[in-house]
Amino acid sequence: MKEKVVIITGAAGGLGRAFALGFASAGAKVAVCDLNLAGAEETAAMVGEDALALKVDVADEASTEQMARTVIEKWGRIDVLVNNAAIYATIQRKPFYEITVAEWDLVMNVNLKGAWLCTKAVAKHMIQERRASTANSEMSTGKIINISSATVMSGSPMWSHYVASKGGVIGLTRSMAKELGEFNITVNAIAPGFTLTDASLNLIENAQKYGVERGAIKRSSTAEDIVGTALYLASSASDFVTGQTIVVDGGKQFL
Ligand SMILES: NC(=O)c1ccc[n+]([C@@H]2O[C@H](COP(=O)([O-])OP(=O)(O)OC[C@H]3O[C@@H](n4cnc5c(N)ncnc54)[C@H](O)[C@@H]3O)[C@@H](O)[C@H]2O)c1
Repeated sequence: MKEKVVIITGAAGGLGRAFALGFASAGAKVAVCDLNLAGAEETAAMVGEDALALKVDVADEASTEQMARTVIEKWGRIDVLVNNAAIYATIQRKPFYEITVAEWDLVMNVNLKGAWLCTKAVAKHMIQERRASTANSEMSTGKIINISSATVMSGSPMWSHYVASKGGVIGLTRSMAKELGEFNITVNAIAPGFTLTDASLNLIENAQKYGVERGAIKRSSTAEDIVGTALYLASSASDFVTGQTIVVDGGKQFL
């Protein structure tokens, strides 16, 4: 990741913060983006001088465009985008027939439209950079990494808007991969199983033990368990991998 410029959304804490720290340890410059600026600044301070904290609303097109422009102004390029921001643990779980249209729209706007808008804003710059290069074959591959969820594989009651939004992320990943391949840009998704972050600790009682018995590996997942897959998908080791979804859940479900 040396000299790579990485944008991570939803990086005020949890998985996003772990991605920021992991990419920075691997040598990347990291734009730490979140609606929660104080949290983003805290993450950036943990990363050090190769970090930039930005207040970004992924559901707002102007905000995502500004995010991409600011990163280009600071570092001149964008190599990797991690679409991690989401409405997750704050969702009130209820039967699908009791979810209001406003609740449905909020989850879809952030979790699905947000990934599309951020990629739209960033891919433009990635494509331009590759078009401007006369030696395209030597150009490093642009990388888009979308954070879905393993819950899509099984379905999950009482939060159908969340599951649908994360299922949409997988479809979006495949479609965008087909469009961006010709520009040497890969698009892949990670589907984490239940992972111990502050958000999920607040979500259910006994979170430490949740689902452990169903896994092939008999322990809970931590944010750090997901970072390695993100680094792989961002590195040249995965240059011929695109449109894929990697489930990282300790073997709770095999597809
Ligand atoms: N923790 C888990 O068990 C788990 C499992 C599967 C998938 N995921 C996914 O992983 C990602 C991170 O999860 P987490 O546990 O760290 O949760 P989290 O709630 O800590 O992280 C989500 C972040 O997104 C930010 N955010 C929300 N709306 C935003 C907006 N409009 N614009 C910009 N930022 C916004 C929040 O401020 C927060 O920092 C999410 O996409 C989540 O759906 C988590």
